[in-house]
Amino acid sequence: MTFDKIYQYNFPTTIRFGAGSSKELGDYLSKNNLAKPLIVTDGTVAQLSFFKDIINDLKKKNLSPEVFSDIHKNPVKSDVYKGTDVYDSSKRDSIIGIGGGAALDVARAIVLRVNHREDLFKYDDLIGGDVYVTNDVPHFITIPTTAGTGSEVGRSAIIADDETHQKKILFSPKLLAKIVFADPLLTMELPSFITAATGMDALTHNMEAFLAKMPHPLCEGIALEGISLINHSLEKAVNSPDLESRSKMLIASLMGAVAFQKGLGVVHSLAHPLSSLLDTHHGLANAVNIPYGMEFNIEGFENKFKRIALTLELKEETGEAVVKYLFDMNSKINIPHKLAEIGVKPEHIETLADLAIADFAHPNNPKPVSRENFKELYTKAL
Ligand SMILES: NC(=O)c1ccc[n+]([C@@H]2O[C@H](COP(=O)([O-])OP(=O)(O)OC[C@H]3O[C@@H](n4cnc5c(N)ncnc54)[C@H](O)[C@@H]3O)[C@@H](O)[C@H]2O)c1
Ligand SMILES: [Fe+2]
Repeated sequence: MTFDKIYQYNFPTTIRFGAGSSKELGDYLSKNNLAKPLIVTDGTVAQLSFFKDIINDLKKKNLSPEVFSDIHKNPVKSDVYKGTDVYDSSKRDSIIGIGGGAALDVARAIVLRVNHREDLFKYDDLIGGDVYVTNDVPHFITIPTTAGTGSEVGRSAIIADDETHQKKILFSPKLLAKIVFADPLLTMELPSFITAATGMDALTHNMEAFLAKMPHPLCEGIALEGISLINHSLEKAVNSPDLESRSKMLIASLMGAVAFQKGLGVVHSLAHPLSSLLDTHHGLANAVNIPYGMEFNIEGFENKFKRIALTLELKEETGEAVVKYLFDMNSKINIPHKLAEIGVKPEHIETLADLAIADFAHPNNPKPVSRENFKELYTKAL
């Protein structure tokens, strides 16, 4: 690791972590004179009993929440516009995202849109749009209900174009939540398939962040501890969940997202095109691709893989042993080893490779990835 210039490290979010922390929401709102929050969630979470309990609790405390849940599984721009219309017409004073990465992304994009009314994609970070995020934003609170994306502590929202399905990133430090209520009790009933896919997303964040190019020892320490927590809890959280495994997965997913301010890598660039082209769940796409992406990264980075292997308490302290661990973990949590099993066909590979090379994640990969490399990796994983 060489420090060849000045780097910025940020760790600013207040996190209330632990079983029951979501019950503090009402008092927090009252203390901050916020009586009319817009609650952004998805249609499934809106029907769950813990969600209804949160809303009823707020009403009992004389607060007036308004729920917006009309969003897509991979959120699109029109979801954000609709939610902003609800914010305006019902005269809201704050925004609370409750849900998985999709709901939290829409909530964060509405936070941006409330006082920034140019076309949403003018603020796309990849074309330097973050410089236009200059106005104040509403008070923003996040409550995660999956343990995967860690979007609750993030500063970006991934929103796709309604027609082209191309994913854009809205980014600004202003989009950080003021406070996160991370309550593992809300994740207790997550179905095993979602636990597995989102858990592998969290593992991918921690591993890719640890390996990413930027010199950032703070994040590397967090990422290794995140990997260790997942090693000790993912299988249990999927196959026989208890509060301890759910708690460890929730904090590890949050740690992965803190760590990936350092950057992500080749696995996320392999995964993103599967969601754009085939609507594959983000975590599942990472889960199937991670063994292949990590295998690609070993050469030249044997020492870093040795540290991952040590963290995973593997007998052999090598990159190859880490790759084997990833395949074995996928087997234990019922994730397929091959892309063909999740609907990818040979004729998709050229388009997937075009999308992957244009993706924002791989420039931070420890070693460069070419379009040809992406083609080879997809072919190997097929
Ligand atoms: N902003 C970021 O930094 C970032 C990073 C990675 C991914 N993402 C985005 O996050 C999204 C994926 O998020 P995700 O993996 O959390 O999945 P998700 O939000 O799509 O949720 C997966 C499913 O789980 C359900 N669910 C959520 N909480 C539940 C609970 N407690 N009990 C039962 N069911 C529950 C949801 O209704 C949904 O059907 C993608 O849209 C991706 O683009 C954002
Ligand atoms: Fe991810």
